[in-house]
Amino acid sequence: MRKVLVIHGPNLNLLGEREPNIYGSTTLEEINQSLQEQASKTGVELKVFQSNHEGELVEAIQGARHWADVIVINPAAYTHTSVAIRDALSAIAVPAIEVHLSNIHARENFRQASHISPVSVGQVVGFGKNSYLLALQAATLITLPEAKK
Ligand code: DQA
Repeated sequence: MRKVLVIHGPNLNLLGEREPNIYGSTTLEEINQSLQEQASKTGVELKVFQSNHEGELVEAIQGARHWADVIVINPAAYTHTSVAIRDALSAIAVPAIEVHLSNIHARENFRQASHISPVSVGQVVGFGKNSYLLALQAATLITLPEAKK
């Protein structure tokens, strides 16, 4: 059974009420519920973590290295600022898939650069809640590094 850790970064706990014109009206709880349903149907063991704190996100990534086969991560604003999160992903052998609800490439200049993309297998952006569901599907399809198979 493939083990997937989904990590949500800062302010994503406010989904539903936060800028619904950009991020939609679905709450984080509803997203997590849909992820759990898809995981059950596709034989994935799922853990979900959200934090507004950079260091906690780093620790969650570090902690995943002995459990997760794949990390699905929406680092939110830290995408554009955090070398620490990038380094944590780079430090471990667990492949990561980067997720964004909005299409960051079609938004402000500062959102178009990601510290996370170069250390990710791939990126799913712009599909709202479905970005997460597509990323979870990708997590079941990608080839794992030798040691993890
Ligand atoms: C986001 C995009 C980021 O630029 C922003 O800071 C977020 C959410 C997204 O999912 O579209 O908080 O990661």
